Amino acid sequence: MTTLLGIETSCDETAAAVVDDGRHVRSSVVASQIEFHRKFGGVVPEIASRKHLEVLNNVIAEALSDSGCSPDDLDAVAVTQGPGLVGALLIGVTAAKTLCWLWGKPLVAVDHICAHTVSPAIRLETPPWPAVALVVSGGHTTLFYVQDFLEIERLGATTDDAAGEAFDKVATILGLPYPGGPSIEACARDGDPRAVVFPRTMLGRESLDFSFSGIKTAVLYYVHGPGRTSGGLQKMSPSDIADTAASFQQAVVDVLVAKTMRAVSRTHADTVVLGGGVAANAVLRQALRRECEHRDLTLHCADLAYCGDNAVMIAAHGHHLFHAGQIADLALDVYSGTQMKR
Ligand code: KG4
Ligand code: ZN
Repeated sequence: MTTLLGIETSCDETAAAVVDDGRHVRSSVVASQIEFHRKFGGVVPEIASRKHLEVLNNVIAEALSDSGCSPDDLDAVAVTQGPGLVGALLIGVTAAKTLCWLWGKPLVAVDHICAHTVSPAIRLETPPWPAVALVVSGGHTTLFYVQDFLEIERLGATTDDAAGEAFDKVATILGLPYPGGPSIEACARDGDPRAVVFPRTMLGRESLDFSFSGIKTAVLYYVHGPGRTSGGLQKMSPSDIADTAASFQQAVVDVLVAKTMRAVSRTHADTVVLGGGVAANAVLRQALRRECEHRDLTLHCADLAYCGDNAVMIAAHGHHLFHAGQIADLALDVYSGTQMKR
């Protein structure tokens, strides 16, 4: 058996987890900073770093104590190296390096997006690969072809806003609280998804890339009037706002599902996996499930607990890197942008 401690601090969640064999979760602790960022309508990098620094030691101690493991029981420490906020990443990476040095354990550097990609496999008896993976988060909207835990090929990605970012920005336009994804999903339950026809940007018949900036602007002008950026929200009733939220959500889901099916046709995969913060959205999960059933495809969605940022997925992916001998140097640096090339 291999036991890893995972540490995640790439954005606004401070997380630590202990996972056996990349599948069996012994403990998972996530300290969210949402309340500190809410009044700014988004994550403030400086605040994120400071909050990680304040709570990380306790979060790691709690994850170890919940797991019943002592440092001696660990085979390695896995940490998110990037992409993410540099200051925030540095807190986690510095803590992980220090613990590895102190405990004499190997360090494993994990890519946050790869971890989201393989998060639907946590707890599965048999790995679901090969599969098309849709990863939808606040910073990324990407389609991958996953042949194995360590063979992940990027098929397409957003050319501007990520899906989660679009949810967050549209929530602000509609006067809904941060984070926008859960607010829009809740508000949309009272709305009609066919009330407003927002654009579904497909970027041509072949493209596996995404673009969500057009729909964001379409919502802005729908709310305030063509070419205007303020003054319209006060004139909308709660039911107008719910209709707008539901129609926006439906348009984003339609594009995500259609592009995922394009990727399936391109790769001839018979399995689809879904991960990332936006994967918590029930309308997206249902739409993807319906389409997969219709086409006789197997679908694995990440557990709700592992959609948003967490350290279980870092320890789980770290397990596979560790077994492939991919041990990091204690001089490890962080990276802010994606390292994955087409
Ligand atoms: O993966 P994640 O926790 O952090 C990043 O790596 O970005 O994703 C956070 C994003 C936010 O944009 C948030 O609004 C979105 O996921 N999100 C949702 C839902 N829950 C979280 N979007 C749509 N529907 C949801 N239920
Ligand atoms: Zn994430």
